Amino acid sequence: KRHLVSTADLARDDALLILDTAEELAQLSGRAVKKLPTLRGRTVVNLFFEDSTRTKTSFEVAEKRLSADVINFSAKGSSVSKGESLKDTALTLQAMGADAVVIRHHASGAPARLAQSEWLHGSVINAGDGTHEHPTQALLDAFTMRRHLNPGPGRDLAGRRITIVGDVLHSRVARSNVHLLTTLGAEVTFVAPPTLVPIGIENWPCQVSYDLDAVLPKTDALMMLRVQRERMNAAFFPTEREYSRRYGMDGIRMAQLPEHAIVMHPGPMVRGMEITAEVADSPRCTVVEQVANGVSIRMAVLYLLLGGATLADSPRTDSSE
Ligand code: CP
Repeated sequence: KRHLVSTADLARDDALLILDTAEELAQLSGRAVKKLPTLRGRTVVNLFFEDSTRTKTSFEVAEKRLSADVINFSAKGSSVSKGESLKDTALTLQAMGADAVVIRHHASGAPARLAQSEWLHGSVINAGDGTHEHPTQALLDAFTMRRHLNPGPGRDLAGRRITIVGDVLHSRVARSNVHLLTTLGAEVTFVAPPTLVPIGIENWPCQVSYDLDAVLPKTDALMMLRVQRERMNAAFFPTEREYSRRYGMDGIRMAQLPEHAIVMHPGPMVRGMEITAEVADSPRCTVVEQVANGVSIRMAVLYLLLGGATLADSPRTDSSE
């Protein structure tokens, strides 16, 4: 495969290869190997048309740890603000010799359009497109779940019960997760206000519930979603107090989870409404761990798409840089 646009394109073996490679790369980082020379001489462009803290920084760290030449392109401050099209932006990056483009775009389908086009010859990696997908987020989520629930190379998430709560309608994280988690054998339940459940969800490989308290005791990993007010009409949304009461995660609800269960959030969190500080700052909450795991996952994706070698074949590591 040359691109990563959707987790729906990943077979179980592809997903496990990425998770296992990320685990090996994480072990190398743990042994103070700061850099691998795998992408020396290759140019990766981070093309961000939407704001990001975690994804953008984490891709940049991953690219630098693989010794790539990194170009950060933000739509703000570029000729996009003068009306330049995606095609002309892509042709410009191609002319500068981009080997891979990591793209975040407000339009669902923009990464797929780039991947199918002749505008770019390199790999396209989706870093979040509209309400469509965010595949590397789902991979880092699965990596975090596997570490807690079924650790070890080659292992999947068979039979694990994952509950995803909140604004499913606008969530690319939810869409990427439902494909990937079910490919890895997990059972996914969405809990959301009826106005934030997508039309057609009955065709997704998941259950839907409106009763969070009933689902919590049967949950191995609970993922809270951000309420994406910037994408919604006010009429869609219950009041903040009503939302917290029915769908927010607090200490009382956390106590209903099985002892081994973890609480996740892709970030950014809206503390108070979606998740209380008591839960967000508790040892069961993996938000910060997810961010750290994101670097290993993004290194693995770049390594496999651009490096073309297995870790065992990889050239010498370089801890001196
Ligand atoms: N989880 C996530 O995508 O965060 P950012 O928007 O900060 O990249």
